[in-house]
Amino acid sequence: MTSAALRRYDGRTVFIAGAAHGIGRAIAHRLAAEGAALVIADMDSEGADAVVAELAGSEALAVHCDVRDRESVRAGVAAAVDRFGGFGVLVTNAYSASSVPFEDLTDEDWNRDLDPTLNGAVRTIQAAIPHLIASPYGGAVVSIGSVNGLAAFGGLAYSAAKAGLVNVTRNLAVMYGGKGVRFNVVAPGTVRTRVWTDRGPERLAFVEQAKRHYPLGRVGEPEDIAAAVAFLGSDDAAWITGVALPVDGGIMTGPLMQMFGTDPI
Ligand SMILES: NC(=O)c1ccc[n+]([C@@H]2O[C@H](COP(=O)([O-])OP(=O)(O)OC[C@H]3O[C@@H](n4cnc5c(N)ncnc54)[C@H](O)[C@@H]3O)[C@@H](O)[C@H]2O)c1
Repeated sequence: MTSAALRRYDGRTVFIAGAAHGIGRAIAHRLAAEGAALVIADMDSEGADAVVAELAGSEALAVHCDVRDRESVRAGVAAAVDRFGGFGVLVTNAYSASSVPFEDLTDEDWNRDLDPTLNGAVRTIQAAIPHLIASPYGGAVVSIGSVNGLAAFGGLAYSAAKAGLVNVTRNLAVMYGGKGVRFNVVAPGTVRTRVWTDRGPERLAFVEQAKRHYPLGRVGEPEDIAAAVAFLGSDDAAWITGVALPVDGGIMTGPLMQMFGTDPI
C-alpha cells in the first residue's frame, strides 16, 4: 500500500497549532489525505484561511490562535470543540527563532523565542488535554521539536525551548499514559521552508549547501516531517510514547565520519 492510500485518520479530528505555512501546512495536507478533519490554528488568520481553501473537499476549520496568549489558545480550542465536538490529536508546531549573539541577549530576546516555542506548546497542551483524554480513540500529542533540542546547533533560546519540549513530553507521557494519551516529539533537521528560502541570499545559500552535511544527501522537505507526524499521531504508533524522533536525513548520527571519511583506521 502506498502512503497515499493510507486512511489512518478517517473519523478523527486533529488540531494543528501553527498550520498556516511550511511544515504545519504540510502536516495538514498529509492528514487530510488520510481522512482527518482539521483545525488549522494560527496567529496568521489569512494564512490559515488559505490552507482551509486548499483543503477543499476535506473538513477543515481555520481558527485564530496565538500560542503566546492563553486566552487566544483557549478560544481556539473552544472553537474547534464547537465545530467538531472534540479532537483526539494535537500537533504543536508554532515557534519563534531569532539570532542574537549570546552576550547581547536580553531577557526580552530570550523570552521572545522561549515563550511561543516552549510555553506556547505547554499552553496548547493544557487547553487540549481534557479533549484528548475524552477522545474515544485515545489521544495523541505530536510536538514539533528540532535537532537543535538534541545537540548543539546554536540559537540558544530556541534550542533550549526545543530541549525543554522533549522533557515536557517525557513527563507528560508518564503522567497521562494511564489516561490513554500519548506524547511524542518529531525533531526535524534542516527543512526547506520559507524560513530558509524567503529570508535573504545568505539563508538561501545555506539551505542549498547544507545537503553535503546530510548522510542522505539532501535537506528535508515539509512532507518528510508530515509523514513522521502522521505515523506518531496514528494507531500505528499505539505503543509509542515519550520519544523524540529525529527526522533529519541522518544528521544526528554525528559529523565525525563526514569529517574524517569512512575508511577503517
Ligand atoms: N524549517 C526548518 O529547517 C526546521 C528545522 C527544525 C525544526 N523546525 C520546526 O518546525 C516547525 C515549523 O517550522 P517552519 O519551518 O514550517 O516555519 P514557518 O514559519 O513556515 O511556519 C510556522 C507557523 O507557525 C505559525 N506561528 C508562529 N508563531 C505563532 C504563534 N505565536 N501562534 C500561532 N502560530 C504561530 C506561523 O504563522 C506559521 O504558520 C517549528 O516548530 C520549527 O521549530 C523547522
